[in-house]
Amino acid sequence: MGAATSRLFATEGAKVAIADLLDEAGAALAEELGDAARFYRLDVTDEEAWANMVAAVEADLGPVDILVNNAGILLFRTLLETTRAEYEKVLEVNLVGQFLGLKAVAPGMIARGGGAVVNISSVDGMKGANGLAAYSSSKWGVRGLTRVAALELGHKGIRVNSVHPGGVDTVMTNHDGRSRDAVNERFGNIPLQRVGAPEEVARASLFLASDDASYLSGAEIAVDGGMMTGQYYEGYPGAPGVG
Ligand SMILES: NC(=O)c1ccc[n+]([C@@H]2O[C@H](COP(=O)([O-])OP(=O)(O)OC[C@H]3O[C@@H](n4cnc5c(N)ncnc54)[C@H](O)[C@@H]3O)[C@@H](O)[C@H]2O)c1
Repeated sequence: MGAATSRLFATEGAKVAIADLLDEAGAALAEELGDAARFYRLDVTDEEAWANMVAAVEADLGPVDILVNNAGILLFRTLLETTRAEYEKVLEVNLVGQFLGLKAVAPGMIARGGGAVVNISSVDGMKGANGLAAYSSSKWGVRGLTRVAALELGHKGIRVNSVHPGGVDTVMTNHDGRSRDAVNERFGNIPLQRVGAPEEVARASLFLASDDASYLSGAEIAVDGGMMTGQYYEGYPGAPGVG
């Protein structure tokens, strides 16, 4: 999703700082995008690394006007089987990482009079889900963090919004590389009947980061094929396959 977002922002004329732990993939993507992009190795849980990266980005590419807080990890484990260390690790990357990102970029944005932050949460930050005790907690946390940031930074010119993807076909959810059709079979119970593409989430981030969203702050946009609208009563009128 980060790669799709970087590509779309570069296409729209942004200079893109790609930050990840994945040296090879990050460098390859930066090369693909040419002068518009650079790769920076970053562990989002490392506060000092954030400060160093923002300084390097400002020297290489210019001021940071937009942050898309996208890095995340997934853990499928029941509540009772999740260890404390596992729980803390997921919160550390998914929630503390976004907190540190905000803290790293907001002072510069305030000094320049504005900016936009897009925090990637999840539909699992809007509902509960079996097997996702740590992940769901972290994504609800992102939602709360976003609202607080929208309140505290809005009057300083910074808009902060969250995006809540549903099922999206990425390495996180499809690490064994199943075809789109095979993945879609699991989505028969949502209105749009298919998995999402990373580009479809990227377009929501682009909108929220752009001046088109100049009056949006603290908004929560579900990009989920309708997953959060409700649950079908299978076999009853209006359900898939019934009419
Ligand atoms: N794929 C989905 O269905 C889905 C649904 C809802 C939300 N999301 C969220 O979207 C975001 C992107 O997920 P994705 O599907 O592209 O997953 P992905 O696993 O393909 O990509 C996540 C990226 O985060 C990076 N990362 C992990 N830990 C890091 C750290 N400590 N520092 C820096 N980078 C780190 C990984 O190297 C990887 O490149 C995540 O926040 C995820 O929780 C994904």
